[in-house]
Amino acid sequence: MYKRILVTGGAGFIGSNFVRHVLGKFEDVYIVNLDLLTYAGSLENLRDLPNKENYHFIEGDILDQDLVQRTLREFEIDSLVHFAAESHVDRSILGPSAFVQTNILGTFSLLEAARKVWIEEKKLGDGDVRFHHISTDEVYGTLAPDDPAFEETTSYAPNSPYAASKASSDHLVRSYAHTYGMPTTLTNCTNNYGPYQFPEKLIPLMILNALNGKDLPIYGDGEQIRDWLYVEDHCEAIWQVLQKGCSGESYCVGGNNQPANLEIVDTLCEILDELKPSASGKNYASQKTFVTDRPGHDRRYAMKINKINQELGWEPKHNLKDGLLKTINWYLKQEEWIEAISKKKEYQSWMDENYTERTEEEK
Ligand code: NAD
Ligand code: DAU
Repeated sequence: MYKRILVTGGAGFIGSNFVRHVLGKFEDVYIVNLDLLTYAGSLENLRDLPNKENYHFIEGDILDQDLVQRTLREFEIDSLVHFAAESHVDRSILGPSAFVQTNILGTFSLLEAARKVWIEEKKLGDGDVRFHHISTDEVYGTLAPDDPAFEETTSYAPNSPYAASKASSDHLVRSYAHTYGMPTTLTNCTNNYGPYQFPEKLIPLMILNALNGKDLPIYGDGEQIRDWLYVEDHCEAIWQVLQKGCSGESYCVGGNNQPANLEIVDTLCEILDELKPSASGKNYASQKTFVTDRPGHDRRYAMKINKINQELGWEPKHNLKDGLLKTINWYLKQEEWIEAISKKKEYQSWMDENYTERTEEEK
């Protein structure tokens, strides 16, 4: 079992859930978390970690190859789980440069550091070390209504700068396995939701806007389809692939939940109406507003999860209703966390930049 893990981006949404999940489950696993603490990362996400004596945080950039090499040596790292990325599609449309830097060059920097320390210096190979790369279903592009779901053999066809940068990083990982014998695994996962998600993404944004009496901005006609997975289920899938997945392989991960965005927003509103009725006396759904669509908006994602299910026995444990209920209950209890984020200048400026230019559309 890999026990000395370097996690990158562990102060972000999925990374912090992964760190908490693993430390809570195994007493003999040591995690080093390397995170630059960009707008999306926060030490607040890592408060109250279980088994804290087995955890070490380094504030730093994955592009700093010397730092990564030193960390691999000093902490005798045997596995790297790479979450760090720019992760928001809308931001990649308004400013793609950071996505090329972090997602492509950042992944290259980590691969080079691992190649030098693990392969060249220490002559380690399959079974000794593992580079696990976290990727997305968005590398496969978009599906028409009757198209079969994505699977590991689907051709890459990324549509946004975000998706293209993730696709590039996937290809780099593949090439290091093929050319240098780097022991790699890769997971392509669908949309995650759950605790600690930054409220620029659909679900937390809608929860917070609803509670604050603001508009619920639905892009285009709201009939776009995503495949939603509760974050804890994703963390367990990553753990299974890291420990038991075959070197050189990629695994598709998804939630078997494929509602349209409008259905998600309506469900969130209904749950909130029950748990915390609006002071206005109206249903939260009355705050829904149709706004200008995202340019190049992918219409539909869906994922086949047969490979990970058959080879590793993984399947999602949460259905959408349970997951959303858990998520809303978590956000309702996080006044301090929400306040800290809402006060961040980067958050306010992003909300202005992304939403003020969008016009309200008739539906
Ligand atoms: P996030 O935006 O919440 O967190 C990203 C983290 O990376 C932050 O803590 C940030 O500080 C850190 N980071 C950014 N640049 C860095 C750098 N140069 N050096 C070190 N740290 C840096 O992202 P997330 O939603 O948790 O996504 C994590 C990973 O999972 C990403 O690779 C993303 O592409 C992938 N993914 C996300 C989803 C999803 O639905 N959120 C689904 C599939 C795959
Ligand atoms: O599919 C996996 C991907 O899921 C991950 O790789 C990305 O990191 C993650 O951000 C997510 O991308 P999406 O673009 O699908 O997620 P987002 O939450 O931004 O949007 C979900 C859907 O909701 C999408 O169809 C756009 C729509 N949307 C989003 C926002 C923020 C709205 O209608 N209104 C909004 O204000």
